[in-house]
Amino acid sequence: MTLLAQISDLHLRAGGLLACGRGDALRAARETLGYLLSFRPSLDALVLTGDLADRGEEGAYLELAELLRPFEIPLGLVPGNHDDRERAREIFGGLCPWAAETYPFLCWTRDLGKVGLIGLDVAQEGRVGGALAGKVANFLEKALSAFGERDCLVFLHQPPFRSGLGDMDGFPFVNAGQLSEIMGAYPRAVLACGHLHRGLASFWEGGRAICAPPVCLHMELDLTEKGGHRFTLGPPGFALYHYGEGLLNVHFASVPGDYPYAGPYYFSGPPAG
Ligand SMILES: [Fe+2]
Ligand SMILES: [Fe+2]
Repeated sequence: MTLLAQISDLHLRAGGLLACGRGDALRAARETLGYLLSFRPSLDALVLTGDLADRGEEGAYLELAELLRPFEIPLGLVPGNHDDRERAREIFGGLCPWAAETYPFLCWTRDLGKVGLIGLDVAQEGRVGGALAGKVANFLEKALSAFGERDCLVFLHQPPFRSGLGDMDGFPFVNAGQLSEIMGAYPRAVLACGHLHRGLASFWEGGRAICAPPVCLHMELDLTEKGGHRFTLGPPGFALYHYGEGLLNVHFASVPGDYPYAGPYYFSGPPAG
């Protein structure tokens, strides 16, 4: 068995400030990582898929690096649209060695034996939507081909498929077609995203994909045009990948604890019109 966890969208603020003025991001990160550290059977790897910090603050990354220190398993991180790539490179470089050939993008691979892990940086400076840069696409093709017939998880922040959440679909993924083509050639590979702040599975044209539920700020399930603007509070979430004999199960799970439901609240005010 191979067991690994993905956490996403921590939205940490320096000094323990609340994310979007409501979400206790520090408590959520601390309790999620504490829970995963003592999870049994113990994890073989832990991956964080972006929006680690809400505003890319150094203090937020230092706090997170401290919380990650006790883990003695392979760690992988990719940045999201709320992150500061250069700060993340500096602070997390010791935990997650980046591939030199994708500079300045923070990409990596980890070999867990039966399962190969690939991390892709698809964040664009100052933009909400993701993009597959040429050198990142080359890195992905090379890494998938190196893992060959083995099971593979490809981690990135923004999903390349439409979610139906009106506002989120307003920021399309640049080069989604190319990503779909590359992934389509490797049917054993699964795309593992974050960014939507909802746990979901997608069987899109590029194959199999999931979005991990968020650690902080849960997206309201609103598939109308005006959806994707509001969040609720609740228990931190994560995705647990369980590879067994001839199968992969993905659990969308919550951290146990007293996390009352509250909301919905706007991320940044109601949509125009
Ligand atoms: Fe996020
Ligand atoms: Fe995001």
